[in-house]
Amino acid sequence: MESDYPAIARIQQASPEAAQWPVGDYSNFRILIALLAGEGKGIIAGFCAWRQSAPDEAELLNVAVSPASRRMGVASALLGALRREATGKIYLEVAEPNQPAIALYEHHGWVRVGVRNGYYKQGSVNAIVMAKST
Ligand SMILES: CC(C)(COP(=O)(O)OP(=O)(O)OC[C@H]1O[C@@H](n2cnc3c(N)ncnc32)[C@H](O)[C@@H]1OP(=O)(O)O)[C@@H](O)C(=O)NCCC(=O)NCCS
Repeated sequence: MESDYPAIARIQQASPEAAQWPVGDYSNFRILIALLAGEGKGIIAGFCAWRQSAPDEAELLNVAVSPASRRMGVASALLGALRREATGKIYLEVAEPNQPAIALYEHHGWVRVGVRNGYYKQGSVNAIVMAKST
């Protein structure tokens, strides 16, 4: 897993909309990695971090895809794997202006369950809380 950190750091850095964590923090959570097939086989194209926060509740903490590999279903594959691994309802927070991510989540059946006003950027950006049942 630690050998994947440079790739995670690279994708995170290229994805300013994603949470920017010190990569060592990922060792505290569960990580799913998407590997390219075909040309570029084996290259890490995306990742997500999540945790099982209670027996019937999980939390998607971060997801990002390399800019060169977007709109190819990489995040969809990660969310599908997350749905298979996590138990119960899955929650996430996403910045209200991040329409591509919100479109992704809605595409996969996440629904809006709340708003956290001023959650990001020193109170200037709202978080939309979304959830997906099994
Ligand atoms: C959001 C993100 C993870 C999507 O990854 P992706 O691999 O390109 O997504 P997919 O190819 O699986 O997209 C599946 C569907 O989501 C929606 N979607 C994804 N990106 C979209 C975009 N830029 N605009 C509109 N809808 C989008 C579409 O419905 C898409 O289906 P379609 O391509 O058949 O139209 C990627 O753009 C990214 O890494 N962004 C920066 C990091 C980020 O915002 N993370 C979310 C933090 S909460």
